[in-house]
Amino acid sequence: MYMSVDSLDTLDDGCFIKFINLIHALTGITIAKNRKSMVQGRLRKRVLALSLKSYEEYFDFVVNNEAEKTPFIDSVTTNETYFFRTPRIWNYIETQLLPDHLQKHPGKTFSAWSAASSTGEEAHSLAVLCQQFKDRNNSFDYEISASDISQRVVTACRSGIYQGRSIETFKSSMPLAFSKYMVKNGPEAFSVQADIKKKINFFEHNLFAPIKDRKMYDLILIRNVFIYFTPADQKKVLDLILPRLNPGGILIIGESESITGINAGLAKVENLIYRKASG
Ligand SMILES: C[S@@+](CC[C@H](N)C(=O)[O-])C[C@H]1O[C@@H](n2cnc3c(N)ncnc32)[C@H](O)[C@@H]1O
Repeated sequence: MYMSVDSLDTLDDGCFIKFINLIHALTGITIAKNRKSMVQGRLRKRVLALSLKSYEEYFDFVVNNEAEKTPFIDSVTTNETYFFRTPRIWNYIETQLLPDHLQKHPGKTFSAWSAASSTGEEAHSLAVLCQQFKDRNNSFDYEISASDISQRVVTACRSGIYQGRSIETFKSSMPLAFSKYMVKNGPEAFSVQADIKKKINFFEHNLFAPIKDRKMYDLILIRNVFIYFTPADQKKVLDLILPRLNPGGILIIGESESITGINAGLAKVENLIYRKASG
């Protein structure tokens, strides 16, 4: 049946504010008032897919249908990521953190959490460095947790298949590791070697929710997600995740982020890299 989509050309201000509030309530993401066209563009696809007539109708649909919360969250989150994003922090992990761990805690499995993992490039980058280190030091072992609020990206993480921009930096800056740990999977695509993939546990998790298990980590990567949160919300997330960081453990944030001013009991090691007090 033909349906006019003219009504989808405008998202009125009142409805936009209702969506902003709903996005914040479900994800903690704060959307600026000048991002209406971005929100509209993302919601439009969903409104069309459901053959609804207006954004208002879609708003009521999301609020009243639990199952629609998943695709709604999938459509409003920004999932950009790629392997070895911000080379400086990977250099720190490779040359300082992993050797330090092995020296201070011989025999103890290194445990890390990629806490807003998107499609998994961050967790897999870490796994590649850990595997390289393990190949050189057979008493070293590691395990990685990777989580995201978006079901769509967690599903992509599990497949571990990557191509295009996602792997460019990896391929060009670490060609030997790339050919050792990535396996061709189609004309353009590569998958992460099975031995590495099985070291990562992917799960859905909202950073504002209590953490279900009692796992403790030596490293938490929480990168390029704080930019979407207000300082007060960043503090709420830190209060939930920092108890999971071992004393002396490391927390790493994203390049355009800052936690200065949030009194979280962390000491700055270098830009973007923080250490929890040894206790
Ligand atoms: C831009 S990506 C960052 C990916 C990766 N950490 C990196 O730095 O390349 C931000 C991710 O944060 C996730 N996210 C947003 N709000 C979240 C929340 N409340 N809980 C968990 N993940 C969230 C999004 O779904 C998205 O995949």
